[in-house]
Formats: sequence, C-alpha cells, structure tokens
Amino acid sequence: MADDLRLRSVDGVNSAMTGAPAPPAVRLDTVTRTYGPLRALDGVSWAFPRGGFTAVMGPSGSGKSTFLQCASGLDRPTSGTVWIGGTDLGRLRETALTQLRRERIGFVFQAFNLIPSMDVEENVALPLRLGGRAVDRDRVAAVLERVGLADRMRHRPSELSGGQQQRVALARALVTEPEVVFADEPTGALDPRTARETLRLMREAVDLAGRTVVLVTHDPVAAAWADSVLFLDGGRIVDELVSPTVASVLARWDGVAA
Ligand SMILES: Nc1ncnc2c1ncn2[C@@H]1O[C@H](COP(=O)(O)OP(=O)(O)OP(=O)(O)O)[C@@H](O)[C@H]1O
Ligand SMILES: [Mg+2]
Repeated sequence: MADDLRLRSVDGVNSAMTGAPAPPAVRLDTVTRTYGPLRALDGVSWAFPRGGFTAVMGPSGSGKSTFLQCASGLDRPTSGTVWIGGTDLGRLRETALTQLRRERIGFVFQAFNLIPSMDVEENVALPLRLGGRAVDRDRVAAVLERVGLADRMRHRPSELSGGQQQRVALARALVTEPEVVFADEPTGALDPRTARETLRLMREAVDLAGRTVVLVTHDPVAAAWADSVLFLDGGRIVDELVSPTVASVLARWDGVAA
C-alpha cells in the first residue's frame, strides 16, 4: 500500500510539473529521519497541492511531529529531499532556511508559544519584525479582525482564554501571508467548541486566502475539516483518505491502529 501511494504521489507531481508551471506547495521525496537506530520517518514521499488542507494522523510515536518538522524546515532529514514550492531546503544554509521559514511558512502548535510579556498586537506583529519587515499595523489589525480578536489588541496572553490564545497564534501564523501553514495538534488543548472555531479559521485560510494547510491531529473531528487525511504508521504513509468525514476517519483509523 505504502509503495503504491508513493508512486502515485510522485507520478502526480511529475504530471503536474509537465502540465502546469507551479510546483506543489510542499513536496517530500524519500525523506528519512533517524534517531540512532530508530527510523522516525522511513522514506516518505508526498506532494501537498497548493491551496489544499491535509490532515496527518497516526498513533503516538508514528512520526507525525517528525514529519511536520522535516516538511517545514524546522528539522533536517537524515536523507531525502524537501521542497517548499520550488526551493530545495537541503540546499539552504541555516540563515537562508530561517529566513524561508519566517517569510513563507506559518506555524501553530498545541502550546500556543505566545510571548507572555507582549500584548496581542505585538505577538502578532512579531514575525514581521523578526523578518525585518516594516510592521504594517493595518495588516495586523486586519488579521486580528479575521480571527475575531480586534477588540483584544492590548491584552496579554495571560488575560485570554485558551481558544483566544490559539486564535492569536493563528493570526501570528497568517500575518506574513505564508504559502504553507503547519499546525501540530493546534486543537489538542482546546474544548470542542473553541477547537471548531480554530479549525473553521484554518479552513477559511485555505478557501478564502488560498493558503496550504498541513494539520497534525489525533482528533477525527479535526481531520474531517481537511480535504484529505494521511495516515502515518511506523514512520511511513500507510493510507490516504480523500474527502474525509468523521465516520470515515474513524473507520480507517481502526484499520491503522489495529
Ligand atoms: N529528538 C528525538 N530524539 C530521539 N528520538 C526521537 C526524537 N524525536 C522523536 N523521536 C522518536 O521518533 C518517533 C516519532 O516521534 P514523533 O514525535 O514524530 O511522533 P508523533 O507521531 O508526533 O507522536 P505523538 O502523537 O505522541 O505526538 C518516536 O519513537 C520518538 O520517540
Ligand atoms: Mg507529535
């Protein structure tokens, strides 16, 4: 199954490349990440289409976070190649890779990773400042408006609920208008209602702004917001589910976890 999927995805990239000039948003080619003898990622190949919303599921320890970190340039694979758009990350030195992450990628994590001493506006503006860009306050205000926090600009993270903090983190991820947003269990610490709000905003970023989203999650409800779900097991992609529903994710999950 894994080999079939690998071939299918690589074929897909090839035909897309001859037919259309735009490469996929993210592409991995036989990416392996080892920790000593452990193959946390084991020869993974996949192409993420532009403007697509993909969920990544799998048992604990199956390599989801490792996958996300390699695909986003936070970590370097032991072997194999990762492209963001047309850029081969393996060819970039550390400073260029950092710059690429700042300019072209947005990150959201389960622990919101906001700066406690900064207010909401400053937290959201941070990627612009770090990237040496002029801080366009209208843009910051617009993205906060989009996530429903325009009236919270002067609040510190500690003065917000978990759901509100995650929306600040999402605004921070979107403010640079990145090509790809990588999210690692962003709803893991949220109750179902605030989780749904975060997912709706990610869905909107795809549908209205054309962002590409890669979402690691344990939650079939969260995965059902995506266009497709990849299942990882033992560091390999073992299945893909297109147009998922909660019921179909649960049914497939039983197969992977069995
Ligand atoms: N820095 C590291 N050093 C050694 N082993 C690691 C390291 N990071 C991850 N691993 C191992 O690699 C494997 C995959 O880990 P990973 O964090 O990618 O799993 P995951 O699917 O994200 O799990 P979870 O659902 O629990 O978050 C695990 O066996 C883990 O112990
Ligand atoms: Mg993880």
